[in-house]
Formats: sequence, structure tokens, C-alpha cells
Amino acid sequence: MKSLKVELGSRSYDIVVGSDLVDSASDYLAGTPGKIVVVADETVDGLYGARLVKSLSRVGEVHRVLVPSTETAKSWSQAGEILGRLAELKLRRNDLIVTFGGGVASDLGGFVASVYQRGVALIHIPTTLLGQVDAAIGGKTGVNLPAGKNLAGTFYQPSRVLCDVSVLRSLPSRQFRSGMAEVIKYGLCYEQQILDTVQTQKAAIQSSDPEVMADLVARCAGIKARVVSADENDNSGRIILNYGHTFGHALEAAGGYELWLHGEAISLGMMFAANLARSMGLLDDDAVEVHRRAFDNVGLPVKGQFDSNAVVGAWSIDKKFLDGQRWVLLEGLQNPVVRSDVGPLNIEDALPAVRLSSPTRGVR
Ligand code: GLY
Repeated sequence: MKSLKVELGSRSYDIVVGSDLVDSASDYLAGTPGKIVVVADETVDGLYGARLVKSLSRVGEVHRVLVPSTETAKSWSQAGEILGRLAELKLRRNDLIVTFGGGVASDLGGFVASVYQRGVALIHIPTTLLGQVDAAIGGKTGVNLPAGKNLAGTFYQPSRVLCDVSVLRSLPSRQFRSGMAEVIKYGLCYEQQILDTVQTQKAAIQSSDPEVMADLVARCAGIKARVVSADENDNSGRIILNYGHTFGHALEAAGGYELWLHGEAISLGMMFAANLARSMGLLDDDAVEVHRRAFDNVGLPVKGQFDSNAVVGAWSIDKKFLDGQRWVLLEGLQNPVVRSDVGPLNIEDALPAVRLSSPTRGVR
């Protein structure tokens, strides 16, 4: 069991990483809430919901609200439905919302927790790798608008995050790989040892070995905790966590949030960013090859089929668009920089490196 802290003064909280936390969740609740509403991904609920409810019932009256497992569930209407359900249940401010699932559950459940009666206590229990290393940490909540992903949302910190690595075994392999893209992001931007573990522990990672996964999740969650502690509201250092995301979010939007999983899209996004950096003289060929090998090693795409105009059009609405497009790039591995001087020629130079001209999507 590892415990990491997000340091935010009176709103500081722990991220607990370990095995079988679903069964002991009640041990990690501060105080005794009256009602507990679990906002659960319906697939995860089918697998582990009964175990979680058994545990939480030791300390409160538990209700479940199920949400579909797809990104399209992060909609305004779904948020409204959940808020209506909370009102029917007469949830009060001193009660508790627990999210249980991947990024959809934590983004959507976190959003409703932040606005229902101006804020209800919140605990995240992320069950995907992506949720455990990224989405559930740092208080970002969101729903998607037709114009783009996460365009409506709040910053609202949970009071605890429980990362149970034993549930990762039941993740569909495509979802697991998608989470590995965020793990590799931490390796490329912050910590070489993460890249080394991804390289040397391939079999253990593929079989979701709890010890290796607990180590990887704790390393990544620890980096995110430090970054969020220093820049909660995304004004400076936190933007680095969006390495590969300008392109990645645009690719997801251009595919209607159905063609690409987030991790697949940001893998291509990081490959694109690496090629941009090479075009600007910031990265050499070897560093681009480190990117390619890391993604390829875990079965993530390094090239894909997409409509360049649709992708370039979609990134103009990206949240990092201030006076001009800001790009997170690497000036050498583990040395992230933010640049606003990426020119059209650099983009033209980098696009062919990640674009397949054949009609097959997502082939490496
Ligand atoms: N996923 C990026 C962040 O939380 O800032």
C-alpha cells in the first residue's frame, strides 16, 4: 500500500494505491456520511459494484446511479439526469458522492458533485489505468460539448482517491493500452525510470502484475500530485501534463469521440509533438525513436489514418489557445517546454510522419 499527497492546504488529500481497496473502501472515508451515492460506470458496477456497496454500507446508506461506459455519456443531459436523481434521493451537502469507473465516471461524477448544492464531498475510485494515473487526480471535472471535449467543467478536488490496481486485470486490453499512453507520457516528460520499466517489464505489465502496476501507478500518480500541488488551476506547470493532447483532443473530436480512445489519440499526439520538435531542432532522431519504441512496445498506434484538415481545424478551439497556439514540446527527453512559435511549415513537416494514407485506421 502506498499513499501520496496532493498538497493544497486545507483541501489536501491522499491518493492511496494498493490491491483490493474495493473491499476496504469504507476504511478510507473520513467521518461517517449519512447517504453515499455511487456514480458508477455500468460495466464496472456489474463486475465490482456489489463488493463496493458491501464495504460502503458499513458506514452509510448507499445508492447507486449508473452511467454508460462511453465518452458520449459525458453530456449535459446525462449530468442533468444525475443531478435530478441526487435531488430525488434528497442528498445533502454533508453526504458523499463516490465515483466508480474510468475518466467518464470521475469527470461526470466530479462535475455533478461540484455543482449539486454548490458542492458535495467527493471520493474517486478510478478503475481504469487512465483514471488511476491521470483523470481522477487533480480535480478537473468536465462534460463534452458538440464543439469540443471537456469544454464545460470545474476544478473540484476530491477528498481522497483510491487506486485499486487489482481491478486493472479485468480491463479490456484496448482500454489498458490506452492508459499506458498516459504512463509513457510521464516517462517522456518527467521520469526515465518509467520508460525503463515499460521496456523491461513488458510481460508483467501485459498480465497486469499487481506489484509492477502498483509501482507504475504510484510513480505516475506521485508526479501528477506534485504538479497539481504546484499549479492547481492550470496556469503554468500543469499544462505539461497535456503533452500530445492538442493533437490528441483534436483527433478525438474529428472522430466524433468514437473512433479513437483517448490514449490512442494522445499516442499519435505525442508522436506528432516529437516530430514537430524535431522539425524545430529541439529533438534529435534518437529521441523521436524513443517515443516510437515506447508506444509500439505496448501496442499503441504511432501512425493513423485521419483527415488533416479536420484535425487542424479542431485544435483551434483547444483550451491552450490563448493569444496563439501553445504547444507542449520536449527540448530533449524529460525536458518539457511550452512554445508558441510553431509555424505552418513545422506542422506540414510533422503531419506526414504520423499520417497513414491507406484507409486502415490505427494501424502501426
Ligand atoms: N489531464 C491533465 C490535467 O489534469 O491537468
